[in-house]
Amino acid sequence: MLITARCLDFTVDGAGVIRQAERVIFVPGLVPGDVAEIEITADKKNYLLGVLKKLIEPAPDRVPAKCRHFGLCGGCALQHYAYPAQLKWKQQFVAQSLRRIAGLVELPLRPIVPADNTWAYRNKAQLPFGRPGTIGFYRLNSHSVVDLAECPIHHPDFARITAAVRDFARQKKIPVYDEKTHRGILRHLIIRKSEYLREILLGLVVNCRTFGLRQELKQLTVELNKKLETYKIVSVVANINQKKTNKILQDKQDIILGSGFITEKLGQYLFKVSLNTFLQVNTPQAEKAYARIAEYCGADRTAILDAYCGIGTIALSVAGRARNVLGIEETPQSVQDARRNAENNAVRNVRFLCGRVEDQPAEALGRPEIFIVDPPRKGVAPELLAKILELKPEKLIYLSCNPASLARDLKVLTQVYQIKEITPYDFFPQTTHVETLVLLEK
Ligand SMILES: C[S@@+](CC[C@H](N)C(=O)[O-])C[C@H]1O[C@@H](n2cnc3c(N)ncnc32)[C@H](O)[C@@H]1O
Repeated sequence: MLITARCLDFTVDGAGVIRQAERVIFVPGLVPGDVAEIEITADKKNYLLGVLKKLIEPAPDRVPAKCRHFGLCGGCALQHYAYPAQLKWKQQFVAQSLRRIAGLVELPLRPIVPADNTWAYRNKAQLPFGRPGTIGFYRLNSHSVVDLAECPIHHPDFARITAAVRDFARQKKIPVYDEKTHRGILRHLIIRKSEYLREILLGLVVNCRTFGLRQELKQLTVELNKKLETYKIVSVVANINQKKTNKILQDKQDIILGSGFITEKLGQYLFKVSLNTFLQVNTPQAEKAYARIAEYCGADRTAILDAYCGIGTIALSVAGRARNVLGIEETPQSVQDARRNAENNAVRNVRFLCGRVEDQPAEALGRPEIFIVDPPRKGVAPELLAKILELKPEKLIYLSCNPASLARDLKVLTQVYQIKEITPYDFFPQTTHVETLVLLEK
């Protein structure tokens, strides 16, 4: 069936949303404001799926997509939408999520903080190997790998590395991992960069105990460093993943070249960054959010708790604001790096605890005046929300990468806390993702 309609919104995955005769239709490739001819392709009971047949009247905010893989790769679903319009959509998306899920009426919502770089902003690439001899991205809604020719949210040096590693794997005939049979070696290529020292950490996730071809890989690095425009590969690490799992990185590492980390500067501090630890992918935007968190903390505090602390980026940013700071993190490598980061920066009032934050007994949490949470996408564990409501710290600072789980958690927290300020940050231009910083007070 063909219909003509106007697109009203995006889904969270970046498909266009149309409403017609009380039904919702999801159509990939449309932007709000487009009028288009659509073919309905599936009736899924609660919604319909459609494909774009003809663009009749393009929206004023429609722009040409920059990347040749647009539409096939799920990565940058908004790159056909002008940047100011992307920001407006994210601002509304945060507001709608908080209203709909948390039932919040009064929203002290500040304008979204735009990114200074809207392209080539990511400090990390994570690319699956595929057959035959491909490295790239999973085709939308599938696990078949499409060979990556370009990715404009990465620096062009990442494409040079990807091409060279692809050639290397082909020439050396290194078998690619097959998730069905659990055979083969190469699983993922990871590239991490630091802007501060212009360093690159190259990672290969492999299904074997140790990586052979070490000399060959070192030689490849020497050759590659001659071709890179801006960065230099300083370390190569094999991450050993012999598990049948979708989790990309495991704890075990085999360092092939260098020290196993790169050094990045955030705010006034230097951080050692390993392959398998968390670091926000947009460094300048993260710095802006961390600076605001430090401001929220005020000065001369007794104790601050940084839950889900990673390698200690927030804990160190707020160290000057309190007598004691405690960071809690479940990944051992991150805790090890966090401790080393504090030491290297001569910050002596920060401690780190390894474990799941929700499992910590009350004595371990202490009585922080300020409680900072920066959880993964699923949000704060319900047990921890209950503990926070019992502890009743004076201020609660919540940094979230998922408006839906943020809204769910705020619904609980607003039983005791008042929301003072909500600020969305665009950490992920060209995508539907948005980071949100919330200040709550008793
Ligand atoms: C979104 S990252 C934030 C890291 C850090 N605050 C930063 O800005 O770089 C979330 C971190 O929480 C850790 N994590 C996930 N679940 C956890 C849990 N239940 N307890 C403690 N840490 C956890 C992850 O390993 C990750 O380092």
